[in-house]
Amino acid sequence: MTIKKREKIKDLLAQKEERENVIAKGWIRTKRDSKGGFSFLELNDGSTINNIQVIVDHSLECYGDVSEKLTTGACLSIEGKLTLSPGKGQSVEIQAKNVTVYGIADTEEFPLQKKRHSFEFLRTISHLRPRTNTFGSIMRVRNRLAYGIHQFFHERGFVYLHTPIITSSDCEGAGELFQVTTLDISNPPIENKTIDYSQDFFGKKTGLTVSGQLEGEVYAMALGEIYTFGPTFRAENSNTSRHLAEFWMVEPEMAFYDLEDDMELAEEFIKYLLKDALEYCGDDMEFFNLRIDKTLIERLRHVLDSSFEKITYTEAVDILLKSGEKFQYPVEWGENLQSEHERYLTEKKFKKPVIVFDYPEAIKPFYMKVNDDGKTVRAMDVLVPQLGEIIGGSQREDNYQILMDRMKEKGIDADEYYWYLELRKFGSAPHSGFGLGFERLVQFVTGMENIRDVIPFPRTPKQAGF
Ligand code: 4AD
Ligand code: MG
Repeated sequence: MTIKKREKIKDLLAQKEERENVIAKGWIRTKRDSKGGFSFLELNDGSTINNIQVIVDHSLECYGDVSEKLTTGACLSIEGKLTLSPGKGQSVEIQAKNVTVYGIADTEEFPLQKKRHSFEFLRTISHLRPRTNTFGSIMRVRNRLAYGIHQFFHERGFVYLHTPIITSSDCEGAGELFQVTTLDISNPPIENKTIDYSQDFFGKKTGLTVSGQLEGEVYAMALGEIYTFGPTFRAENSNTSRHLAEFWMVEPEMAFYDLEDDMELAEEFIKYLLKDALEYCGDDMEFFNLRIDKTLIERLRHVLDSSFEKITYTEAVDILLKSGEKFQYPVEWGENLQSEHERYLTEKKFKKPVIVFDYPEAIKPFYMKVNDDGKTVRAMDVLVPQLGEIIGGSQREDNYQILMDRMKEKGIDADEYYWYLELRKFGSAPHSGFGLGFERLVQFVTGMENIRDVIPFPRTPKQAGF
């Protein structure tokens, strides 16, 4: 019987026996011609980083039609015999019987020729960069991590919640909402010298969400344990290797968790995902270890084997002040920790992930639970080597009056958040949650330095195209 359907190269490479009539389809990565009248093609279809070798005999009937078209980047269908290959490192290969060219790739024009390209250059061709080894591997690992995230929460009975993208609440209170409007921005309706948003599509000012947390809390106060996993948007003008204007965030929210429970879950979560990637993305991880960062796998295994250090913000400031390091930004109690401070703690001081908790009240959003000292809140950030902050979370303020007072202090309109306050009025409960930046996780797992290279189409200031 003839097999008509193509098989994935990953599955073909796992075969142990010869077989007639297999079909593989994919893109030529490289081609080499031998003097004996054969072409050797390395074919890749994205199912694995590994290519399958295809041998094309120049005496094949179809060869005359396709010979000129067999160039790097061209897309083919190959029908042939799967044979055990004598070459080392190569288990099987295909001896082609028939070659169909679906799409040519002109050698003069196709930009991904053999030599290695810089990531900067590849960012200028984001429609073609997925066809490189690095980007194929990144996206397979990213895919596996997304799967692992759902698996982790489903194993623990969390409900996957879809929170809205369009919202009128600025969860983090940092004023970084991208506005969503159908008003004519060159001629908006004006009432008392301000724009009249009652005439806008939603009858009020709206934007793209910076976090699904507040809506997540609503459902945690009914279903117990939920998580969101979706795109979030921040109009922050940060041109760094760790910031995107559009990124994906995972936000679990749990009733009856205090900050300690929250930190424990965060640590378990990160370890689960690292283990999963190492187990199921072996070939891709080895590639990163070889080409991107030679200490990657060792470093990730070390994270798996260590327990995260937990220190208060006050202790962290103390350590930094006594470190004798010259920091670009001064360290002072009450100021935000900068990336250089976070990296000192994880890379030099503790040499493992560090969870910093109990931050000053003044530098954290309104929803965090105030400690008895009145000066700090039940916040926690998980910091990892090379990157700094990967998770930010907290226990939430569950006392109606304290929350109300804190909103007033921070100039937040309580009427707008009446629904959030009512969660504290009707059946309030201690609860906690956190947000994991998905792209930062992918960076951490792959060792990629720039966040723009771990998302298919990065959105950053002045960059939203191809
Ligand atoms: O620390 P953040 O701002 O926390 C929140 O949004 C909370 N509402 C989360 C919660 O408690 N449910 O953001 C959470 C994480 C950060 O630790 C970081 O990993 C990532 O989101 N992140 C970004 N990733 C890429 N680009 C940006 N501009 C990011 N801003 C935050
Ligand atoms: Mg944060």
